[in-house]
Amino acid sequence: MKRKYLNRLSKLAIVAAVISITSCQEEGGLAPEYMPDMYRSPAVEPYVDYGELRGNYSDAKYTDKMTARQSVEGTIPRGFQPYGYENTPEGYQLAGQNLKNPMAYSEDVVKDGEELYGMMCVHCHGKTGQGDGTLVERGKFPPIPTKFAPGLVKTEGEMFHTITYGKGLMGSHASQLNQEERWKLVHFIRAKFMEEVPAIDTTAAVAVVEEVVAEVVEATEEVKETEAHGH
Ligand code: HEC
Repeated sequence: MKRKYLNRLSKLAIVAAVISITSCQEEGGLAPEYMPDMYRSPAVEPYVDYGELRGNYSDAKYTDKMTARQSVEGTIPRGFQPYGYENTPEGYQLAGQNLKNPMAYSEDVVKDGEELYGMMCVHCHGKTGQGDGTLVERGKFPPIPTKFAPGLVKTEGEMFHTITYGKGLMGSHASQLNQEERWKLVHFIRAKFMEEVPAIDTTAAVAVVEEVVAEVVEATEEVKETEAHGH
């Protein structure tokens, strides 16, 4: 009698255990949480939205607590200059027609361009600009159709556009070089290989000379005036 009773009790215990184990499963088959506050910080978290993560809390009080936000559409990083021409044949043509190097030509700019060329371009385009870079010479890269030489018909805009987006087998360099650096490269290639040296911008120097001349003229007038009064 006693035994039968025990037997029943143990069966009951098994059933209860099964029920309790299965009923404690949370939605999505996740294990039950013991003291959820320990996992889900009541503090605002930078990258985690706990409410959303488990889908447990539908209340807006709990969800949407993440602090690190996706930027508003159209946001650009500080210092970044957008480039207005599209990566299409039409964009290439338009950039070629309309874009002018906004950077004044100088020897320093060409020097910077030379340095960049040595880091990013020389392994394909080569030291002489004829496509004799080490990658090409060792057969790792097919011959380069563009030879930088006098007479090469390429506008500044076309060159800039190509460095920005790439062309044919050449990849985009927009993520490695900012616009200023790309324009420096354009100056360098034109000056060094295409022998197209733009006239150095002399407007600033002329303005300084004009100012000095005006001052001298004024001073001479003053001297003349005092002399006239003196006599
Ligand atoms: C991986 C090899 C490779 C590298 C690196 C490379 N280029 Fe090129 N480049 C090419 C190829 C190939 C072409 C020919 C593209 C075409 O017309 O199909 C080309 C073409 C060009 C042209 C002609 C553009 C035009 O409008 O036809 C310019 C300018 C140029 N590259 C500049 C650069 C500069 C500046 C760098 C360094 C920042 C550079 N390239 C790095 C392979 C390369």
